[in-house]
Amino acid sequence: AVETTLSILKPDALEKNKIGDIINRFEEAGLTPVGLRMVHLSQNEAEQFYAVHKERPFFGELTEFMTRGPVVVMALRGENAIERNREIMGATNPDEADEGTIRADLATSIGENTVHGSDSPENAEIEVNFFFSGTQLFDR
Ligand code: CMP
Repeated sequence: AVETTLSILKPDALEKNKIGDIINRFEEAGLTPVGLRMVHLSQNEAEQFYAVHKERPFFGELTEFMTRGPVVVMALRGENAIERNREIMGATNPDEADEGTIRADLATSIGENTVHGSDSPENAEIEVNFFFSGTQLFDR
């Protein structure tokens, strides 16, 4: 089925000037940006977005990193978009990511792992709505 998922290009992606490289990978794989903006998350917004991880030992590190600089948030639409996005990103830990994936090619560590992608249809819905109102999405 055609789905919409949330992708975040994290601060390290922007610091390395890789916005175009990353978006190109999604477009070439048939995932189309239907919403896109740049935002510098506040500490509060980062904590809210990652609320499911708040009891994890890395929560502080995660929100500190995600607020270090601006990010690009995108709603990506396409056939099987949620799983497809995760395949293109590769495993959370870049050391475990398959060759040719974004994280294998560009990520530094499990924390600074360049991209985020929704992990389920339920979370995709929540995460897209976190960043985009209806009029900011252009579903084609
Ligand atoms: P993301 O897909 O954005 O969702 C949660 C994030 O937590 C994950 O990517 C990682 O970047 C981060 N994360 C997961 N495990 C660790 C860890 N052990 N140390 C630091 N960050 C982590």
